[in-house]
Amino acid sequence: MRDKDKYDQPDNPAARTDPASLGAPLRCDFVGGAVNHRLRFGGGRGQDLPKAAGLKPGVNLHIIDATAGLGRDAFLLASLGATVTLIERSADMHELLRDGMARAFDAGGITAEIVGRMTLIHGDAITLLPTLSPEIVLVDPMHPARNKSALVKAEMRQIRALVGVDDDQAELLQTALAHASKRVVLKWPAKAAAMAGIRAPSHQIIGKSTRYDVFMQPQATITKTSLTTKT
Ligand SMILES: C[S@@+](CC[C@H](N)C(=O)[O-])C[C@H]1O[C@@H](n2cnc3c(N)ncnc32)[C@H](O)[C@@H]1O
Repeated sequence: MRDKDKYDQPDNPAARTDPASLGAPLRCDFVGGAVNHRLRFGGGRGQDLPKAAGLKPGVNLHIIDATAGLGRDAFLLASLGATVTLIERSADMHELLRDGMARAFDAGGITAEIVGRMTLIHGDAITLLPTLSPEIVLVDPMHPARNKSALVKAEMRQIRALVGVDDDQAELLQTALAHASKRVVLKWPAKAAAMAGIRAPSHQIIGKSTRYDVFMQPQATITKTSLTTKT
């Protein structure tokens, strides 16, 4: 990431550069903890992200998560039947994710089945998206600052310390919009301004702290309309 905006600056300047100073090491865990809890007790397709991505029963979509991070969003989508390609450009974050996915395979059962629908690529999505003929792209870059430094969770500060900052989130979104054939979903803070230079979304799903800006692609809309007209 090259943008300091998503997570607020920590109060302790040392914590900005030393992930170890932020407590327990950052870890990608699909087997226990929050991800597993969400798997067992989450709201299925009724959750905002699956709705924004257009997941429907009986339709197995392929989604590209252009900003993989710790893979939580990708895991949620895969747990609901989607096939997900994850792109992560930070070598350190990619390694955490690769390790977490390997442990999930070893755990077997439903967790291994879900991770079996996830493919991880190391690279920059701005370069890779044009080569992947994507249908649906999820973009979750670092978000604008919220000016509530004391409330920032240690894990978020660790992510910031690990991957640095994004300064090219608009270029990534433009690339996704130029190459996705069906839709692009931008995960963004609920109250943040729209990203400069980006067309208005087709619709938004607004939660308590996060909103999803959904950009339906014109060709996808035309296809849907012509199908509707014929029937
Ligand atoms: C906010 S985190 C994503 C969190 C993720 N949605 C999750 O559920 O864990 C953003 C991640 O996207 C990565 N990233 C940002 N821009 C990227 C790009 N152009 N290509 C690939 N990865 C990118 C960053 O390195 C960072 O790990």
